[in-house]
Order: sequence, then C-alpha cells, then structure tokens
Amino acid sequence: MLRRVALALLAVAATGPAFGQAYPNKPINLIVPFAAGGPTDVMARILGERMGKELGQQIVIDNVTGAAGSIAMGKLARSAPDGYTIGIGHLGTNVVNGAIYKNLNYDLINDLEPIALLPSNPLLVVTSNQIPAKDLKELVAYLKANADKISGGTAGLGSGSHIGALAFFAVTGTNYQLVPYRGTGPAVQDLIANQIQIMIDQSSNSLPHIRAGKLKVYAVTAKQRTAAAPDVPTTAEAGFPGIEVAIWHGLWAPKGTPKDIIDKINAAAVKALQDPDIRRKLEDLGQDIPTPEQMKPDVFGAYQKAEFAKWKPIIDKAGVKVD
Ligand code: MLT
Repeated sequence: MLRRVALALLAVAATGPAFGQAYPNKPINLIVPFAAGGPTDVMARILGERMGKELGQQIVIDNVTGAAGSIAMGKLARSAPDGYTIGIGHLGTNVVNGAIYKNLNYDLINDLEPIALLPSNPLLVVTSNQIPAKDLKELVAYLKANADKISGGTAGLGSGSHIGALAFFAVTGTNYQLVPYRGTGPAVQDLIANQIQIMIDQSSNSLPHIRAGKLKVYAVTAKQRTAAAPDVPTTAEAGFPGIEVAIWHGLWAPKGTPKDIIDKINAAAVKALQDPDIRRKLEDLGQDIPTPEQMKPDVFGAYQKAEFAKWKPIIDKAGVKVD
C-alpha cells in the first residue's frame, strides 16, 4: 500500500512543471533598453556571455529601444515571471524615468524585481575634434558664444547622457540643443562625424574613440580621476565642481519571479564580475565594479529606492516631464 502511494506521488511530481527541469532549461532573454553598440548593450554582451556559461544556458540579447528605455522596461514588467526574461537597465531607465515620464504604464519599483547591481560608468565631457577649445573653461566659453550652432547627443529624455547634460547645463550655465537617439552607440558615431558637437557620455562608450584620437575629452564627472584615463581632470579640477554623476547599471526581472531563480541569476552575475578577464575589460572602460554585498538583490533594491528619493526632487525642480 505504502509503495503504491509513493509511486502515485512520484507520478504526480513527474507531471509537475519542476520535474527534471531545473532552471534554466532553455535560453534566457535579456532585454537591453538601448541600441546595439552603446554602453548598456556592451555591458549586457560582456556579462551575458559569461553569465550564460555559469547558468548553462545561452543569454540572448534583445534590444528594445525608444523613450529612453521606458518601452523596454514596460515590456519587461509585462513578461512572464519565470526567469526566462530579464532586463538590464540603469540609473536613467530605472530611477529617473519614473520621475520624468508621467504616463508610464508600469511601476519601476512595484512591477520589477531587483536581481543585482552592476558596474557604473562615470560620464565624460567629450566633443568632436572640430571644437577648438583646449580645456573645459574654454569649452564652456565656446558653447556660450556659439549656442545656436551647437547640438549635443543624448539617448532620450531620462537617459544617462540626458542626466549628464542637465547637470552640465546647471553647473556651467550653458544650454545647447539636445538631439535624442535610440542609444549613445549611434550618437557617438554622429559625434565623430561632427553631426553633433558634444556629449556628456558614459566612459565605456567614448573612451575607445578618445584613445583612437577621434574625439576630444575635457573632464570626467567624478570625485576622482578614473584610472582608465588618468590624464583627464575631474570637472571640479577643470573649474566646474558639482557635476558628479555616475551611471550605475542593474538587472531586473518581472515582479513575481521566484526567489530561487533571482538568487541563481544573481550568483551568475557575481561570478561573472569576479572573473579577472571581465574585470580588466570593464575597468579598462572606466567602470567601477560593485562588491558582491552591494549586488545582493535586497541591498540593490534598497539602493534603487534611495536613488529614487534622491533624484525625484532634482528632476521635479528641473521641470523635465514627458506626457
Ligand atoms: C546606451 O546604452 O545607449 C546608454 O546607456 C544611453 C544613455 O543612457 O545615455
């Protein structure tokens, strides 16, 4: 009798969804909210490949662009909470957009589950090689004198490059036309071609072009210089204190994704960021790598909420709103 009950229980378990199908048993879709070739996409590809090895399944990149990442995060929030769709975002997409976009049809805090904090990029003040200024003070004077001829690239209202431009305007008293792109990957190509003249751009996007002599750099928006570009002064050293912005990244899943799955993806991200080759690659692009403690889902979730409380009044004061 006992044996029959045990066999019956086994048969029920065998037809259940979990039997023999430990997560993950198929490729994982990673939504990237900006165009291919930009900083978010590059980070997703570097980490995704390594995390896929760790999880034993491929991580497939899905670039969902538009509205500074809010279309992508909406898609993520509405995806099945089964661990097979996750998303990478950053300070712009997952904090600032919540304050800027009045009609988001999802809630950045309540409809998404934090998985892990990822590296952050300082911003660089970069221009095309056509701009004659030799340092940041000369650049600011040039921008003021030629305001009507200058345009700057961003990845849309609320993106990292837009946050950077707003901070730059506030501190330097400059104001030029902002041109929105689907990501700073395409924008930086137009900067090289002088279709636009300036960007306040994430280090990982423009550093390779600066090193190749295709762009000019004036300052880094950080408290300290970055080891990846030690000759570049901080904005404070260059005469304009108060522009200290770093664009941190993170991974999220749809709300309701089981905790053991979140923990498994988190562990893969932690492992990937401990890999010396990956660390070298990211640090060479100016990125700061978080500690495993900072990456914990609950620690990261609390950080995201604290960042929202910090940025909401700044955005409200700047009066940037999109209906
Ligand atoms: C990108 O990947 O294109 C950037 O993260 C855009 C931005 O926020 O400036």
